Amino acid sequence: MSQPVAVITGAASGMGLAVTKHLVANGWRVAMADIDGDSGRKIGTEIGDQVLFCLTDVTSYAQQASLFEKAFSWGGRRLDLFAANAGIADTQFLHENDYNHDEKGLPLPLSLKALDVNLTAVLQGVWLFKYYARRNKVAGGKIVITSSSAGLYPMETNPIYTASKHALVGLTRALGPVLQRQNIQVNTICPAFVPTALCPKEMLDRFPKEHVTPISTVIKAYDTFLHDDSICGQTVELSLDKLYFRTKPDYPNESQRWLGEESASFWEEAYKAPVS
Ligand SMILES: NC(=O)c1ccc[n+]([C@@H]2O[C@H](COP(=O)([O-])OP(=O)(O)OC[C@H]3O[C@@H](n4cnc5c(N)ncnc54)[C@H](O)[C@@H]3O)[C@@H](O)[C@H]2O)c1
Repeated sequence: MSQPVAVITGAASGMGLAVTKHLVANGWRVAMADIDGDSGRKIGTEIGDQVLFCLTDVTSYAQQASLFEKAFSWGGRRLDLFAANAGIADTQFLHENDYNHDEKGLPLPLSLKALDVNLTAVLQGVWLFKYYARRNKVAGGKIVITSSSAGLYPMETNPIYTASKHALVGLTRALGPVLQRQNIQVNTICPAFVPTALCPKEMLDRFPKEHVTPISTVIKAYDTFLHDDSICGQTVELSLDKLYFRTKPDYPNESQRWLGEESASFWEEAYKAPVS
């Protein structure tokens, strides 16, 4: 039987790299995608034939589509796992900054790059993975999305990052049951502080050791998802060495519970109507 194949975005550093190495050590082949070509190519060569480095900016749909196409054919026409892991921080609201202006003197817009990388690119990746997962010998596969503690709690220094990571939690909860019917299990990890290149250097030096979540906890979460097909649509908070499965918020009354859990048939019926 051929080896299982993964696509991992943001694979040239931090968690993506750690997961890549873990999977390779366990007999997987990994298409490593990253925008950092220098590191990615170097690391890819060091790891060897079990990986294929693909220079990819995930915010480009064309580049992500090409990544999946390459991975699928390199992997022997199979794709078992998509780790939607690439992410960037955003601190634009943190400082009392001077606005730049356009030629009419109007303030230039915020950069929404963090939404593009952390959210839009994940959606496009999930869309692409679903396409290839249907073409597997046995249709289906697994998706692990990297959200954050900031997907569950507000991170005041990073409001746009917080918005993007909260969105991934909602996405996973909504998509979980739908994709499970297609034999695709999608789950999201919400790591606490993991020392990686995403964090400013001063943070890495000064961060209290007792509040550091090791990358081994991330690996533990992946192993949990990979070994249990019944886990789907779950949000898992990673803190220190523990995984905490987080359920959606409680309903405040019976009406909201009905809306959340029993109104699906109304929506499905309504959405059957032709879209004008
Ligand atoms: N480090 C933490 O404390 C922490 C906590 C919670 C969640 N996260 C999330 O974990 C994920 C992995 O981050 P990390 O901590 O390993 O950071 P990292 O900076 O070490 O790795 C992120 C990788 O993503 C790549 N990347 C960035 N933009 C890209 C793009 N447009 N296209 C392709 N690749 C791109 C970077 O080049 C880098 O190699 C991110 O989604 C991050 O938001 C990190």
